[in-house]
Amino acid sequence: MNAWPKSSSLLKSNEQWIPGGVVSLNRKSDPNICFVSGQGSRVKDLEGNEYIDYQAGFAASFLGHNDPDVNNAVRAALDNATLLMGAGPTNLEGEFAQLFCGSVPSAESIEITTTGSEATYHAIRIARAVTGKNHIIVMQGGYNGWHNDVACNVISSLADVGERVSPGEYPFDALSAGIPEGHSSLVHVINYNDIASVEYILQRYPVAGILLEPILQNIGVVKPQAGYLEALRRLADEQGFLLIFDEVKTGFRHALGGYQQLCGVTPDLSTFGKAVANGYPVGVIAGKKKYMDYFIHPDKSKRVLIAGTFNAHPLTTAAAIATVRKLASAEFKVYDHVNALGQMLEDGLNDIFSTSGRPFHIARQGSAFCVYFMDHNPVDYHDILKHHDFTFDKTYRLKLIEKGIFNFPLPIKQGSISYAHTTKDIEETLDKTQSILAAL
Ligand SMILES: Cc1ncc(COP(=O)(O)O)c(C=O)c1O
Repeated sequence: MNAWPKSSSLLKSNEQWIPGGVVSLNRKSDPNICFVSGQGSRVKDLEGNEYIDYQAGFAASFLGHNDPDVNNAVRAALDNATLLMGAGPTNLEGEFAQLFCGSVPSAESIEITTTGSEATYHAIRIARAVTGKNHIIVMQGGYNGWHNDVACNVISSLADVGERVSPGEYPFDALSAGIPEGHSSLVHVINYNDIASVEYILQRYPVAGILLEPILQNIGVVKPQAGYLEALRRLADEQGFLLIFDEVKTGFRHALGGYQQLCGVTPDLSTFGKAVANGYPVGVIAGKKKYMDYFIHPDKSKRVLIAGTFNAHPLTTAAAIATVRKLASAEFKVYDHVNALGQMLEDGLNDIFSTSGRPFHIARQGSAFCVYFMDHNPVDYHDILKHHDFTFDKTYRLKLIEKGIFNFPLPIKQGSISYAHTTKDIEETLDKTQSILAAL
């Protein structure tokens, strides 16, 4: 029996006008549930069921759904008749940029876009303009957006990418048709945590930049090994390419200064999105002034275009300012709270799974977590492909959803705790996890 009949019929109805019935087909899943409202850590679906939410808009809702301070800032912007004029500078963009540059180590100046994909798109363009080279390196299992350079190799099958090679590179496993032939030859996909393969590519191609999530968070939570990010920094300095951290997911979630603040490695450019405006549509390209100034380069042949009708939209920018202020506030102690909940969840899951007789590893950075059904901490995507029990992961997620705990129902998708979650939410999550494991 379908437990979500209203959601299913909505999907069917939408299919008449939207291909697949869902805009952004990465939101389509099994089960397909239509969510209609959210408050704090909880969301409700069309059938009236309530869930503790760990999907958080693909990690964007870091303060929780409908955070009152962010909502008030957006309302105030509306009430002040803040307008989208499309001419001249705005107070809001200046205020946000100043706050951002005061928080993020690599940010001497920024540009503001509407999505994370636009941010990574522009970062690659800058890298090419600065270096005069065309090739870029990206990570197997990383996701950096939907555009031609990066729409590849996330959650690919082993059949599509082949067995582990090191040093070496993997086929460009396109996520999309329509990427011009030859374009993918400029993009080199290697394994994360594999410096030998970076050197291999550098010896063979003129590389403009390496673009990576400093922690791979689109295949769970895969952390850098000791010295890895430092080695990338050293190679970038020695060989003259740009080190670009894609912090669209790690961004404000792990620290107001991004993961770069925690790991102590400062990239040349970085990209942000998602949590920056707590669910309002935003992207940020940040970096050293000497690179960001390519947007205003006096030599037209070197100038990088940035444009966008909705860039730094007043409502989004008001939301972003309120988010930064709340994250920075000693009153709220956002990071202490989410990190403590993350630790509580990790400890509880470790206790529960250690008696299950099943291989597992709880991977976590702060409020981001993933339960791997394998016996060690994965170092890269091939490690996961070879050792993770994808079938059990799928069942586990489905059973949790049936109990009112929503993690995206696709294996190895990262879960996100928000500031609005409480110890009660974590206790309930652990109790329900224990009961479904007993039943499984
Ligand atoms: C690390 C990373 N970079 C870039 C993007 C693209 O951001 P957007 O979906 O806002 O275009 C995503 C989206 O999931 C992401 O996780």
